[in-house]
Amino acid sequence: MSAPAASPSDASFSPAIERALLGLDALAAQAVGLSDPNPRVACRLLLADGRVFEGHTQQAGGPHAEVMALRAAHAAGAVTQGATALVTLEPCSHHGRTPPCCDALIAAGIARVVVALQDPNPLVSGRGLARLRAAGVQVDVLPADHPLAVQTQELNIGFISRMVRGRPWVRLKMAASLDGTTALANGASQWITGPQARADGHAWRKRAGAVLTGIGTVEADDPKLDVRLVPTQRQPMRVVVDSRLALKPTAQLFNVPGPVLVYTTANPDDCNGTDGQSVAGLPQEPLQPLQGPGAARVGDMATRWQQLTDVGATVIRTPVSGPQQKTDLPALLADLARREVNELHLEVGHKLGGSFLREGLVDELLLYMAPRLLGPGAGLAHIGPFESLTQSLDWQFTDVSRVGADLRILARRAGGWPAADASHLATASSASDPATSARPAAAA
Ligand SMILES: NC(=O)c1ccc[n+]([C@@H]2O[C@H](COP(=O)([O-])OP(=O)(O)OC[C@H]3O[C@@H](n4cnc5c(N)ncnc54)[C@H](OP(=O)(O)O)[C@@H]3O)[C@@H](O)[C@H]2O)c1
Repeated sequence: MSAPAASPSDASFSPAIERALLGLDALAAQAVGLSDPNPRVACRLLLADGRVFEGHTQQAGGPHAEVMALRAAHAAGAVTQGATALVTLEPCSHHGRTPPCCDALIAAGIARVVVALQDPNPLVSGRGLARLRAAGVQVDVLPADHPLAVQTQELNIGFISRMVRGRPWVRLKMAASLDGTTALANGASQWITGPQARADGHAWRKRAGAVLTGIGTVEADDPKLDVRLVPTQRQPMRVVVDSRLALKPTAQLFNVPGPVLVYTTANPDDCNGTDGQSVAGLPQEPLQPLQGPGAARVGDMATRWQQLTDVGATVIRTPVSGPQQKTDLPALLADLARREVNELHLEVGHKLGGSFLREGLVDELLLYMAPRLLGPGAGLAHIGPFESLTQSLDWQFTDVSRVGADLRILARRAGGWPAADASHLATASSASDPATSARPAAAA
């Protein structure tokens, strides 16, 4: 994402404004697990009489941060004329699910707006600032390297990714032993890490618009894929990548309320006209006959498709790609972005994880490493074998912390998106632990 242009007045803010900006990141983080697919935004109003009112984004279709702060002020009988509004993200200028926040600020007589980050949404970007300025409001944008600008970008990395790249921010979570084993040879993997690491993993699930797994993991572990070890006000969608529709309608993930998406490469023409969806741009030619392991499972495809839709799944046909004729993962990501998924949380085995990694589709690794040795089994991801060290997939650590008895390692792809902002990653770690944008909300 390119940094918003700084105006000459951006360079310095009074100590009073700098003090008033403190804690806005934590306030915005309270929208985690609530506001998706809308961004996580906070607003603080500094009134002429010294009183302060604030708010953060509510659920989609509900009030945005600016409106929450204005409502709090009006409910207290306060006069907002001449006030300063501090907002972590540029106020919206368009009619989305709610009316424009710019209009609400102008109508309330706000004299000055300080914005931490320009909205990446093409429907808004810069227009909100221009609209406020046209109404005579003084508008200042923080420098791109200001801690609050950096924290706002980190908190909304998925929203920004969807707006700028048309795909979610993809975070691959894995639990491994010190020697890199993620499952024993017999498939057992529960639990490699301790309870604190598992709860921390749920705080990261809570950030996501969808939690995705592969059919191999469903068959081995029968996971629910919901957020239950930390409080949340909304559940992410659950997604299963399952070319041959082997997913059973009795799977535990159907026992949890909320949408379940199943991406398959099966051809709906083989399914007697059941109402499966298909991702946009999908070629309509029939699939090649399936061969090898799994082909025997295809016989009753139409029945299984119907059974899955009967238990509430949305079955989506994706194109196939690669020599193995597997699910086309970029098409899947584009489809999830159309379904307004900002952050995608992968909890997959080494096969599907390997495909995401090989195709350069993972933006961030969230690796929990337990202080135990498990010997041979499934590794982190099915990549390689390489013949030279130069073929390695390279990452940069962005954070390493202890979570209970385990280590939590966060890493981002070296040279990955957002390239222009890669230099701020060290700042992001020191300015705010990346996990704290999930943790305060988790503890709420
Ligand atoms: N330690 C951890 O953090 C962790 C996390 C999750 C799972 N696990 C363990 O991992 C093991 C399961 O591993 P797994 O590799 O079989 O599971 P997986 O990666 O979750 O699922 C693999 C399956 O996904 C399907 N698939 C569809 N499109 C694909 C594509 N483009 N690339 C690759 N696969 C695609 C394939 O089956 P179809 O072709 O039939 O669709 C493939 O067999 C279990 O033992 C589980 O306990 C460990």
